[in-house]
Amino acid sequence: MRNQILVIDEGTTSTRAIVFAPDGSCRHSAQQELRQSYPEPGRVEHDAAEIWTKTLAVAREVVEQAGGAEAIAAIGITNQRETIVFWSRRTGEPLAPAIVWQDRRTAAICRTLKEQDNEPVVQAKTGLLLDPYFSGSKIGWAMEHWPQLREAGDDLAIGTIDSWLIWKLTGGLHVTDATNASRTALMAIGSGHWDDGLIELFGAPRKALPEIVDCAGQFGETRLFGAPIPICGIAGDQQAATIGQSCLKIGETKATFGTGAFVLTQAGPTPPTSRHRLLSTIAWQLGGRRSYALEGSVFVAGSLIKWLRDTLGLIGTAHETEALARSVDDNGGTYLVPALSGLGAPWWEPDARGSISGLSFSTSKAHIVRAALESMAHQAHDLKAAFAADGVDWNCVRIDGGMVANDWMAQDMADMLGIDVERPKFAETTALGAAMLAGVGSGLYAGLAEASVMRGAVETFAPNLGDAQRDKRLAGWQRAVASVVTLAQ
Ligand code: G3P
Repeated sequence: MRNQILVIDEGTTSTRAIVFAPDGSCRHSAQQELRQSYPEPGRVEHDAAEIWTKTLAVAREVVEQAGGAEAIAAIGITNQRETIVFWSRRTGEPLAPAIVWQDRRTAAICRTLKEQDNEPVVQAKTGLLLDPYFSGSKIGWAMEHWPQLREAGDDLAIGTIDSWLIWKLTGGLHVTDATNASRTALMAIGSGHWDDGLIELFGAPRKALPEIVDCAGQFGETRLFGAPIPICGIAGDQQAATIGQSCLKIGETKATFGTGAFVLTQAGPTPPTSRHRLLSTIAWQLGGRRSYALEGSVFVAGSLIKWLRDTLGLIGTAHETEALARSVDDNGGTYLVPALSGLGAPWWEPDARGSISGLSFSTSKAHIVRAALESMAHQAHDLKAAFAADGVDWNCVRIDGGMVANDWMAQDMADMLGIDVERPKFAETTALGAAMLAGVGSGLYAGLAEASVMRGAVETFAPNLGDAQRDKRLAGWQRAVASVVTLAQ
């Protein structure tokens, strides 16, 4: 029976494909790691051709396991946001490296634009701030520094990863959904359209950009798996996780700890305005109507554990961090500020660099690993304070992402935030959200509320730490982060 959903979840460090049954159960899954290229300090690039080849390979693997294209009703796509791809319409091949969301090469451009007082207008139109994180300044930089893009003229296509994959899957359809478009800094989020003023400000070529579409519907079809399969759902990964966690009512909040950590609170049909350096972003667009979220973006989360493992060699596997954190009574005065690619919300210091402080001869590997895990709850706490200052109080946070399999970290999150933390038993919430959108787009479900039956059971971590201990830890963290910010200024 043709009722399964294929989800393509293209993240920063890996690309995966999952086949879901209509009840949300995961039937098949395959994954491949992606090469990360760091050509210079602060620069991060991906090879879009590799992303496509590996994505197609994992998708083919699971479609075959599911019984072939005839068993698949629809495709949902979700992806790392802000990463920008440049390709030729004629050949369908990349014309330059993809510039990744973590890339800081446009820090100086953003600083100049800020000094020229452009931030208020950018924030009012896009809900974003002037930071190298977003695609607009990356596009401007690429047009200036990579002559082949200018020379390509009308042959040039530019898009975020969703656009790139859809182009390849369909053989030339150039679209992006409203959530991904809202992260480029080129879209006026209240209107749902590209904004000419922003396009001019960042120096982006208007004709190379995709058409902005809904998150659910019929967006062409692919014939690469045999029988044609329609593409029916598209969303940036953090918005997909918001949907997968069923944060459908105003105030409902999710925090995803993947490569970075991203907290989104559902804000309803009016774009929220932050006065405390948070982002206003599109949560989804359905039937031309948008729902918005307030977002706190933290650039380093799972990538910190990967760095401890692969670069410092402090741990052999991510799994070891839990036992190491439990093996000591506290952090021993050690604080780790994970500003390895600058600081995101609420600091927005692209030039900040990380620190480990409070070291003494009694500091052990376990203290440093514990400080690394604690920094997740500390950063979440800073976001909670910024959200509260914007008038948004969290009652409970729904967590997901690779890191939250760590029970110690989930409990620490509840302890430091002082509220319940809910963790779904099925952790692939991002992919689930894309499956829900594809379920709506293909008509399997009438809307997101109906599709949320796909979300399964959850477990709850309740706060269990005295105020004095919490305050002591937070005071130490605030001293550590303040010194990192001061050094960057
Ligand atoms: O905005 C960046 C975000 O989309 C990256 O997500 O899952 O790779 O941490 P992830």
